Amino acid sequence: MPEPIIQVRDLVVQYGTRKVLDGVNLDIYKGESIAILGKSGCGKSTLLRHMIGLSLPKNGTIEIKGVDITKIPEEDKVEILKKLGMLFQSSALFNSMSIGDNVALPLREHTELEESTIKIMTNMKLGMVGLTGFDNFKPSQISGGMKKRAGLARALSMDPDILFCDEPSAGLDPVVAAGIDNLILSLKKAYKMTIVTVTHEMASVEIIADRIAMMHQGKILAVGTKKELMAKNDHIIDQFFNREPDDEEVDRERQLSSLTGI
Ligand SMILES: Nc1ncnc2c1ncn2[C@@H]1O[C@H](COP(=O)(O)OP(=O)(O)O)[C@@H](O)[C@H]1O
Ligand SMILES: [Mg+2]
Repeated sequence: MPEPIIQVRDLVVQYGTRKVLDGVNLDIYKGESIAILGKSGCGKSTLLRHMIGLSLPKNGTIEIKGVDITKIPEEDKVEILKKLGMLFQSSALFNSMSIGDNVALPLREHTELEESTIKIMTNMKLGMVGLTGFDNFKPSQISGGMKKRAGLARALSMDPDILFCDEPSAGLDPVVAAGIDNLILSLKKAYKMTIVTVTHEMASVEIIADRIAMMHQGKILAVGTKKELMAKNDHIIDQFFNREPDDEEVDRERQLSSLTGI
């Protein structure tokens, strides 16, 4: 069995009286691409934010390469977090900066590299995501799909061992979305990165994921390949695979229909 590169144990995150993560356990193996799949609001982004050390949980542990990032001093944590890349759902680019400066930012903040080296590395990362020649453009001058690519180039700037992607293809048209998913897959193959993708889209999962962690109401319901999960005959899992509308949605539509008489 390969070694887990991330181990999440009994993770509890609570906002007010509400438990958003309610005892999450998950092992992620070196070199795999895992999708965290679940309905909107089930806690996927919260889990990701904790795995990259942006928030501290109420309870539980998160080990990255054997080190519990919830317990270590800030300066040690920074060293570990430097080797993680994150593509945010919004791409999180700074609008006032060029694409090149956005991608160079982590290198300028975390390394002592010469400006000429940073320029070469930035252009290399832009090349990896198919944005060669766009370094002087501002985020407002490029399309949604290109912003995602730029966000990805920035996530890759420090050559991460683990790449986290939050809904990488959400809000893009299907062709552009598939392009981003295929790009992520090609990065995994070429650079042997571990990839953790949060998504609610089955189409993305089919392209990207070796394994799926199915999340529901703040818990991991099941983990496995698509085939393994399908064999469980679980109602909630099957809803995703068969793209059935969920029960709450059906109820809402029935109510609406009875109100409007349609
Ligand atoms: N900082 C926060 N404060 C209060 N509630 C939050 C916070 N972050 C997330 N939540 C709530 O936690 C739940 C899970 O959110 P999230 O992890 O963003 O879900 P997902 O990414 O699966 O759509 C949501 O109901 C959301 O409103
Ligand atoms: Mg989310």
